Amino acid sequence: MKAIIPVAGMGTRLRPHTHTLPKVLLNVAGKPILGHILDTVVDAGISQVLLVVGHLGDMIQDWVRSHYDLDLKFVEQKEPLGLGHAVGLGLDREDNGVLIILGDTILELDMVDFLGSSCSCLGVKAVKNPRRFGVVEEEKGLVVRLVEKPEHPPSNLAIAGIYYLKSGGDLWKCVQEMMAEGRKTGGEYQLTDALQLMVDRGEKLKAYPIDGWYDCGKPETLLATNRHLLDKRGNRRGKAHSYGKNALVIPPVSIGDGVKIEHSLVGPYVTLADGASVGNSIVTNSIIGEKAVVERSLLAGSLIADNALVRGAFRKLNVGDSSAVDFE
Ligand code: UTP
Repeated sequence: MKAIIPVAGMGTRLRPHTHTLPKVLLNVAGKPILGHILDTVVDAGISQVLLVVGHLGDMIQDWVRSHYDLDLKFVEQKEPLGLGHAVGLGLDREDNGVLIILGDTILELDMVDFLGSSCSCLGVKAVKNPRRFGVVEEEKGLVVRLVEKPEHPPSNLAIAGIYYLKSGGDLWKCVQEMMAEGRKTGGEYQLTDALQLMVDRGEKLKAYPIDGWYDCGKPETLLATNRHLLDKRGNRRGKAHSYGKNALVIPPVSIGDGVKIEHSLVGPYVTLADGASVGNSIVTNSIIGEKAVVERSLLAGSLIADNALVRGAFRKLNVGDSSAVDFE
């Protein structure tokens, strides 16, 4: 079976980080988002992986090739014309079973069960605000309608970014037809529209409930996913890290290779990538990039990119009796 992972998007909601690093290479709980996704694919026994790349695609290619020994293919999406277009570039008219996983979603599910389904299926999760997502309407467990970011959602079942198609070739045909007709929704060729064509033509598509759906598309969801993964998978401590004088580390944390901490309190829920250093600081609920330096700072809910320097200062105050000093 072939896995298609579309990773060509611009990642605008994670700027400025995505100006220089593709979204899928952002570190969460000690490895790039894409590493978590590829590990799931490998664990499911799939070795044929096609990535649809665009923005900063060479960086993605280099990273994947140097970390995974798989049957890899990279196809370029020159313009971000939509997820349907991206997936179409990865499909072939002869494809049989195809797994599609979006590049900004970490999923926890029983892949053997998902891929062992008797018909095609897509992951869904009940959400509070379905208007922000692709939404499905189902009847007796089978999808009858798919709508992209609907104003009046037919249900609260959001599409969770994972799809298994028994015939990738049939999806290929539907994508080609959608594009030949110029059928766009919200200015883009949508995967939901191509799947709707398949359903209209009699494809049995099951809505497969997924509990573990962790989005990485925005700063707050990336940090929430970091917290979840650290809670679930526990601490990671890299090689040659050093806790110097007065280093207090509160788990769960992920400490990369060669990390240095001194006179600081780090954690809980902190990822420090390889070579990062923290001195005279308090850092909690944050992701600090490779070789980034944090000094004399109080950080919470922060994303600090690779090689960045954050240096604060201690304040000098002369506060009199009955005064109130509030920096909020
Ligand atoms: P998103 O719309 O969530 O990702 O697409 P994005 O475009 O990178 O992020 P924002 O909205 O600008 O912040 C979901 C997945 O589909 C891929 C993206 O790379 C992401 O993995 N995608 C989306 C493509 O590969 N091509 C597209 O044209 C659109």
